[in-house]
Amino acid sequence: MELKSPFIYGVSEGALKYMGIEFTVAMAEAAAKKSGLPIALHLDHGSSFDVAMKCIRAGFSSVMFDGSHHPYEENIRLTKEIVKAAHAMGVSVEGELGTIGGVEDDISVEEENANLAKPEEAIRFYEETGVDALAIAVGTAHGMYAGEPNIHYDIIEKVAAAIPAPIVLHGGSGVPDEMIKKSIQAGVGKINVNTENQVAMTETIREVLAKDAKVYDPRKYLTPARKAMIEVVKSKILLFGSNNQA
Ligand code: 13P
Repeated sequence: MELKSPFIYGVSEGALKYMGIEFTVAMAEAAAKKSGLPIALHLDHGSSFDVAMKCIRAGFSSVMFDGSHHPYEENIRLTKEIVKAAHAMGVSVEGELGTIGGVEDDISVEEENANLAKPEEAIRFYEETGVDALAIAVGTAHGMYAGEPNIHYDIIEKVAAAIPAPIVLHGGSGVPDEMIKKSIQAGVGKINVNTENQVAMTETIREVLAKDAKVYDPRKYLTPARKAMIEVVKSKILLFGSNNQA
């Protein structure tokens, strides 16, 4: 709130199952009302038309359909169906091309099976589907990295120069700041960060519990844990340059 950044509240199907769709929507609505900031409620890595429609009915303003594991033409066909229905209801759609490695929600994609997106295919995908944002695999992965990711900036540049929709970089956790800045310069317009928040929260809880074995009130460890996560989010807002954009 203090940094005046617009906010995309991204929720995976696993998180939705955990929190319940009604609570998820109510939280986003309360956050938008209380902050007065533009807050999008976005489904991350939606797996089907049905899930996307369920989210739209519940009040999501944006959905991702991740058809990247389907053959290219099938991914286009399925994404197009969702774009048609979502746009009719004023909801934006993110598509995905190429596979992003790593583990998210216990779904694992081996690094060697993660294929980079081909620029020509990404451009045709955008033209045929009309998505509002396009996630392309450019070398990042979900989860923390053992070393540094190898980001293919040339792919981002080629696609960004040809399409007006923002390019989405998944797997933002653990990417060195300089690489994030270079990706933004190359044309990335949305960056997903999840694991770094989870790590900050869990490490803080571990510290508090290790220091005091008698703690039983969850607020005693959740309050500092939440603060730690807020610090991560603030640092990302400043790094991405979305402060004072709301
Ligand atoms: P990280 O967990 O690596 O930050 O990735 C988040 C993500 O891309 C969600 O779609």
